[in-house]
Amino acid sequence: MKKLFVKTYGCQMNVYDSARMAELLAPIGYGPAETAEDADMVILNTCHIREKAAEKVYSELGRLKKIKEARPLTIAVAGCTAQAEGAEIVARAPQVDIVVGPQSYHRLPEMIAKIARQGGHVLETDFPALEKFDALPKAIATEGVSAFLTVQEGCDKFCTFCVVPYTRGSEYSRPVAGIEDEARRLVAGGVREITLLGQNVNAFNGAGPDGAAWSLARLCARLARIEGLARLRYTTSHPRDMSDDLIAAHGDLEALMPYLHLPVQSGSDTILAAMNRQHTADAYRELVRRIRAARPDIALSSDFIVGFPGESDKDFEATLALVRDVMFASAFSFKYSSRPGTPAAAARKQIPEDVKDARLQALNTLLLVQQDAFKQSLNGRTLDVLFEKPGRNRHQAVGRSPYLQSVHVEDAAHLIGGIHPVRIDGVFPNSLQGSLLATREKVLAH
Ligand code: 5AD
Ligand code: SF4
Repeated sequence: MKKLFVKTYGCQMNVYDSARMAELLAPIGYGPAETAEDADMVILNTCHIREKAAEKVYSELGRLKKIKEARPLTIAVAGCTAQAEGAEIVARAPQVDIVVGPQSYHRLPEMIAKIARQGGHVLETDFPALEKFDALPKAIATEGVSAFLTVQEGCDKFCTFCVVPYTRGSEYSRPVAGIEDEARRLVAGGVREITLLGQNVNAFNGAGPDGAAWSLARLCARLARIEGLARLRYTTSHPRDMSDDLIAAHGDLEALMPYLHLPVQSGSDTILAAMNRQHTADAYRELVRRIRAARPDIALSSDFIVGFPGESDKDFEATLALVRDVMFASAFSFKYSSRPGTPAAAARKQIPEDVKDARLQALNTLLLVQQDAFKQSLNGRTLDVLFEKPGRNRHQAVGRSPYLQSVHVEDAAHLIGGIHPVRIDGVFPNSLQGSLLATREKVLAH
């Protein structure tokens, strides 16, 4: 058997795609390799969102070149950098055999056969999105109790800083029937929690079984009926697409977890307009108020960009003010990175690196205080934990809280795959610690 190593960069969509690529190549004889060093084929599933992410691929290709000089190795570059820089990759790194975009990777087996037959390179960066999901294998090898399921791809929003509309193409939603089928198969394989993925997932409008376009809320309600599927999440959402029915679903659907990643990027109306986000800071505040009215215990998460072209001290202050008002349970903040081909890259007032650094630090300090406050607020509370895998200690298990935190629990190894109430009694930088309620009661009863 030949061995395949897939290295994934970037977002959860890439994690999903990497798993599909591995499944796709299994029938043609590729099993998993632990590292690139012992693989016959390496796929780099790349990200293009910021400059740093895109650069990583070239340094990794340098490393792979050395391996390939010593023995045969097939190298494929997939994902968003492949889509955006396909020809450049082949020119800069002739050791690469295959360049394949996110919408064409179902053709990998053909491409491998082609280079085996005639050598040379293959470059495939079309956008046949409709074809891809139909062409992917039906059997899904599941690992663990939590899975990703891509329901939507691409983006029509064209935020002025973002490459996604160019790398992933325009919005496409999968039909409901195919999604439900995949979800049922995952659940039959032991999955209890599904995260629905899309670059703009809440713009989902896939064809329902009745032929009408279904909203994400309607899709969630449908999936929530699958027996054994206990938890649903979705990511990533745009504030503009938080429709009334989706907000209501957070109050109505027990399976929909009380955690929402809703990127705002900035708290300044001037910058939001320059970013083409199509809403104001107050509109975001109001949206949060309505979501919390539907689901009071919801935890919010966001993405922020500091140092967008033209961002003044006052604009940045407005971002801090918004953060203070909203209170985020978790967040990701980035320095603006100029991306080729995006409108913001051409803006005149680029922000100096040291200003970006200082703003990032100030924002992160505030966000960390909020994250810590949120975690501390869970101390002493009882949360449902979905147990995922064994922990480091004997009999220990690691699970997820409804708020996506890792929770370590002693004497819970036999509960993997189940959801059980856990009393939180320790808060650490990257995880929580808790004890099983039932066990505690037993101990107290003795
Ligand atoms: N520079 C910095 N951050 C970016 N993001 C997207 N494009 C850029 C860019 N050019 C961030 C946004 C988005 C997240 C996935 O990455 O915050 O929500
Ligand atoms: Fe990029 Fe904006 Fe689309 Fe998100 S909504 S993928 S940030 S263009």
